[in-house]
Amino acid sequence: MSVVWHEHPDPESAADAAAQFVRGRLEDALAGQPLATVALSGGRGPAALFGKLARASLAWDRVHFFWVDERSAPPWRADSNFRLANELLLEPARIPKGQIHRIEGELRPDLAASRYVDAIREFFALGPQQMPRFDVAHLGLGADCHTASLFPGEPLLEDRSAIAAAVYVERLSSWRVTLLPGVLLAASHILFLTTGAEKAEAVRTVLTGPYNPQRWPAQLITHHGRHVVWFLDHAAASKELSAPA
Ligand code: 6PG
Repeated sequence: MSVVWHEHPDPESAADAAAQFVRGRLEDALAGQPLATVALSGGRGPAALFGKLARASLAWDRVHFFWVDERSAPPWRADSNFRLANELLLEPARIPKGQIHRIEGELRPDLAASRYVDAIREFFALGPQQMPRFDVAHLGLGADCHTASLFPGEPLLEDRSAIAAAVYVERLSSWRVTLLPGVLLAASHILFLTTGAEKAEAVRTVLTGPYNPQRWPAQLITHHGRHVVWFLDHAAASKELSAPA
């Protein structure tokens, strides 16, 4: 388990450090390949990160954008993860449409999921059993220790071969489309950006609690991800974070 966490005084400086990390990893990727890929999460947490990335100097014309998950929402609706990234990052950074591979939240969830898998397979030119390798996967953490749209008790937490799927989230009485563990675990670099006191218990559980990913899904990525880095503010890191077992 190679997990690193960085604690910052406030959400702004945590988002700053996360933005520099993303820019650095994409730059490293572009040093060795024509294109780089990043998968973005949604929720409230990433707004500051997206704003900072939009102002970052990088060869954005060689970066392709994907999503970790999406709500059953059309791209113009306030709860659309695409809309959040589009308004705060893609439009300000003038990212050409051809580099944006969004999950079509306006479609029936199973159809949106299969079209997203097709788009990923085509972009990465994947063979039958192959998994895409995103250069950077950006994740958030729910207070219930969910990440992406992999919520506690989700049977697909056991899946290692499928790329994305529609999942019904009982607690939210709504469908989501989400990348699945096999893809997240294959990502070259995974960052969690998590801020606020309401996340402190979840952070402590994921980073130091007994391993139980069915109960605390973010543990799966944290324990088995390739290079996992957590960016936390003081409030989110306020519970005892002793070195992981
Ligand atoms: C989503 C996300 C989800 C998010 C967490 C944390 O669509 O909601 O991708 O996994 O990262 O729920 O969300 P907040 O930052 O809003 O607390």
